[in-house]
Amino acid sequence: MDPQVAFRPFLAQVEASLLEQLGGPSPKETDTLMQAARHLCLGGGKRARPTLVKIFGDTLGVDAAKLVEPAVAAELIHAASLLHDDVVDNGMFRRGKPTVNARWGNIVAVMSGDLLLSGALLTLAGVGPRLTASALATVQEMTRAAIAEVQARGNLELSLGELKAIAEGKTGALFGWCGKAAATVAEDEVAARCFDAFGRRIGIAFQMADDIRDITGTDEGKPQYADLQSRTPNLPVVLAMAHDARLKRRIGEAWSWAALTPEKVRELGTGVLVTGALDDAIVLMNEEIDSAVDALGPYAEHESGANLVMWARTIARGIALKGAA
Ligand code: FPP
Ligand code: MG
Repeated sequence: MDPQVAFRPFLAQVEASLLEQLGGPSPKETDTLMQAARHLCLGGGKRARPTLVKIFGDTLGVDAAKLVEPAVAAELIHAASLLHDDVVDNGMFRRGKPTVNARWGNIVAVMSGDLLLSGALLTLAGVGPRLTASALATVQEMTRAAIAEVQARGNLELSLGELKAIAEGKTGALFGWCGKAAATVAEDEVAARCFDAFGRRIGIAFQMADDIRDITGTDEGKPQYADLQSRTPNLPVVLAMAHDARLKRRIGEAWSWAALTPEKVRELGTGVLVTGALDDAIVLMNEEIDSAVDALGPYAEHESGANLVMWARTIARGIALKGAA
């Protein structure tokens, strides 16, 4: 099954609703925040979260019309977090284009993120207080994880457990919410717990895939070794340092400098590549996907549950190879 094909009608509804949130077909040219938000949101992105909401909902037999609002909210929260993240990371390219902060500056990027986030919460407020409250808790968790990652910059001793906790907060929490939201609509508490656990682990696998492509340079939309440049110990870097004490010292020395040249970053990146850490990172990513499937429990046997598993495997591997957040 190709989820992008099977869910096309649903995703078309999500797209129409997103467009409406983003000022409709012809928004005012003077509305800078909306123009900036559209620059990120329209014509790019895999719509992984809306797709997840739909598959989770199908597993519980939820009417598709009731899933559109949670799906749109999940995409808007994701987009808001990317707008903020590119300010935090000083990211210059996303989805093959200059980032909003690169084009309009940090103030517009932060505020267009706020606009999308409040749009998401307003959408949920129209559905009910439980969905709104769980989304707010998710945003809190994402925010805490984002600052934990900033605080981990330059940390040569970051453990695998700490790294996974950051990945869970940044990405897993919202994936888990996609499941919780569908289960909330279905009023199924047991499913909410299983889906949350599945989403969190798949989110960790996604983040691992993102770390892998940072080192492989397979994301055409972003420069290779951006994490090494920003002194962020990502998964392959943590694994490579554990393999090779000399490389760890070299990375530590370079990260203590005031500025890192592109040549130095490339040299360290090659150092990470030759340790074989990428293979180990792929093994860990696949283990995470397997543990997600375990967390799904009896739902993995359901036809749509099996779609969840297939979707997760395909998309995580696809991201590790190709990219495009
Ligand atoms: C991308 O990670 C960023 C995230 C998955 C979440 C970032 C979260 C925040 C900035 C907290 C604020 C949240 C909201 C909703 C406003 P990455 O930097 O590893 O990936 P990238 O390579 O795509 O930039
Ligand atoms: Mg980033």
